[in-house]
Amino acid sequence: MSDATTVDYDGMIPNNVGLNADPRLRRALERWHPGYLDWWRDRGPEGFQEKLVYLRTAVSVEPEGWAKFGFVRMPEYRWGILLAPAVEDRKIGFGTHKGEPAWQEVPGEYRAMLRRLIVVQGDTEPASVEQQRHLGSTAPSLYDLRNLFQVNVEEARHLWAMVYLLQKYFGRDGREEAEELLSRRSGDRDSPRLLGAFNETTPDWLSFFMFTFFTDRDGKMQLHALSQSGFDPLSRTCRFMLTEEAHHMFVGQSGVGRIIERSCAAMREAGIDDPTDIQRVRALGVVDLPTMQKKANLHFSLTLDLFGSEISTNAANAFNASLKGRYLEDQIDDDHQLLNNTYPVLRLKDGRIVKEDAAALSALNMRLRDDYIADASSAIERWWNRIIARAGFDFRIKLPHVAFNRRIGEFAAIHADPHGNMLGAEEWRRRRDAFLPTTEDNLFIESLMRPVTERGDFASWIAPPRAGIDGMPGNFEYVKLAG
Ligand SMILES: [Fe+2]
Ligand SMILES: [Fe+2]
Repeated sequence: MSDATTVDYDGMIPNNVGLNADPRLRRALERWHPGYLDWWRDRGPEGFQEKLVYLRTAVSVEPEGWAKFGFVRMPEYRWGILLAPAVEDRKIGFGTHKGEPAWQEVPGEYRAMLRRLIVVQGDTEPASVEQQRHLGSTAPSLYDLRNLFQVNVEEARHLWAMVYLLQKYFGRDGREEAEELLSRRSGDRDSPRLLGAFNETTPDWLSFFMFTFFTDRDGKMQLHALSQSGFDPLSRTCRFMLTEEAHHMFVGQSGVGRIIERSCAAMREAGIDDPTDIQRVRALGVVDLPTMQKKANLHFSLTLDLFGSEISTNAANAFNASLKGRYLEDQIDDDHQLLNNTYPVLRLKDGRIVKEDAAALSALNMRLRDDYIADASSAIERWWNRIIARAGFDFRIKLPHVAFNRRIGEFAAIHADPHGNMLGAEEWRRRRDAFLPTTEDNLFIESLMRPVTERGDFASWIAPPRAGIDGMPGNFEYVKLAG
């Protein structure tokens, strides 16, 4: 068995990267560890740090049975460094270095670019933990509380994954970057997280589920693109992170789905046929569908900004350098160099939104964003709209137009409605409340956020899940709050 599949689970830092044989790296990580724990206690989940939580921990990287479930106090969680098994004789699949053996060391000419890619990805991981830190006190059930903490510890493990790469491969500046990953703060005025959506607040559980649906899905796309990297340690790290990411998306899609399910059932019981009769629906103590649509509009548009500008030389450079590929690059049938290809991009021309062919290399952000939109929209059909249709309501959650509510790229300069019709500033101000959550909407959602901590109970606004975690029964005590 190679060391790629053997996990050393005895040391302070579980790993399959041969940490014991690399004392310099081990010392660097051990020096970073106390600051990390301070960060977790300080900026991680508020309260609950001493409670036993039923969590899964990665103990292997085999597709079968990589996780083990058990009760653990979060600060004692085994945050490990785990790479997916090496692919023997792996060749670089795209860009200038296509066909060359994958790099096991950092290619000198791309050092800065590679470090930046790792730092930007790494920064999002602790950011989301910080954004979600207050949610524990209003969890709608022990099941949901446990899922929140599972997402939190795994995002923190993703931070470890990126810090490992920085400390192992980037010497002193890698160590400095690793420190800075602990010192930036989501939403902080002086030292914010690097990307906009990771400085927004996640004030309630509907926001949390929307965030894991929309924004963790951006994480999935980025990890896919990085898992194609010619830098093999990055590729292997990201491949393993994707197995965890799938659960985060499940939490989001099933969480919103359960809210929709409960709302539809309550409307049926009350004989409400019109789901847009907001006040009557809210009087039932459930979330109305138009508000769900507005929350989706908000989280979708904030997440689109994470894909960057429509036309981007950075994206082209990272692809040319064989550092960041496309979504499922290895399944695309083309030359994987894109020197003469074009890609259709929506742009703002003479005050109108038009589709235009751009050089495929400069349009890579758009391609990833389009892949993201396709992925999100099929998940919405499968997980959300099916529930509404089955309940017999004439209402569908739809993704807004890409020009809607943007702060980055072509459409940052204009206002558009969710259909992509351009609006003047005055009209935008007048109609904005119909598209995005208002203070009143948020106050209503906040009014529903009361903790439910009895085993097997759920808040009135959310349906129980179909199945428990790890096959546990409905009344399982996922978080032991007493003692
Ligand atoms: Fe993550
Ligand atoms: Fe995630």
